[in-house]
Amino acid sequence: MNLIVCKDYEEMSRRAAELAAACIQADPTGLVSFPGGDTPLGMVHAFADLVNAGKVDISGAHYVSLDEWVGLSGLDEGSCGRFNRTELLGRLQKRFAGVHLIDGAAADIEAERAALDSYIAQYGPLTVSVLGIGMNGHLGFNEDGVDLDLNAHIIPLSETTKQVMHKYFGEKFHPEYGISQGIRQIMAAKTVILIANGSHKAEILRRALCGEVSNRVPASVLQKHPNCYVVADEAAAAKL
Ligand code: GLP
Repeated sequence: MNLIVCKDYEEMSRRAAELAAACIQADPTGLVSFPGGDTPLGMVHAFADLVNAGKVDISGAHYVSLDEWVGLSGLDEGSCGRFNRTELLGRLQKRFAGVHLIDGAAADIEAERAALDSYIAQYGPLTVSVLGIGMNGHLGFNEDGVDLDLNAHIIPLSETTKQVMHKYFGEKFHPEYGISQGIRQIMAAKTVILIANGSHKAEILRRALCGEVSNRVPASVLQKHPNCYVVADEAAAAKL
């Protein structure tokens, strides 16, 4: 595991974007995945800047989203789909060869899950998976207690996730489930980049990186990934 401690959020975002871009340069037809949430905002903007400046060519690469709240469409405020469309895809002046965004509002959510598996099977394995970490150590919506052998799946949201989810969409939505790439697909990525910022992430980052490997803290499985980078600001890295 490679730990990169950055002085602040801006540096974390830039370093993670540069690492992701380098992965695509090395594997230009690879499959790329970024997370939603607050953490990656600066990273996806920095990545779009690199693309737009011609520093990385994405024309041969495919993009797939990591996760989504079941019940929310890509138009809904706070959805991962909207984050991807607005903050990443909408900023790019060049296009990926193909994009697959999970539709959490699909009438047939099982078919949506199967479509996610199919896309990753067709264009994967992931060449780079950028991940955030939830307050309970989740990756995507691989909540505490998740089966680590799963591919894409639909999973009940943990109480911790339900407590923090209102920061994305207030009281407008009350999702009970998430749909997510599985740990199996994340662990198959050639490179994983875990990003974290802020003192509120320090304790869970310590448990994930220094604690026992267990599905109680899903991010702890990254200790076993052969090519994992952790890019954290000083506040998040304070307990490492
Ligand atoms: C969210 C998402 C994850 C994200 C994590 C951290 O609920 N399911 O993909 O990485 O929790 O979110 P944030 O970056 O807002 O702290």
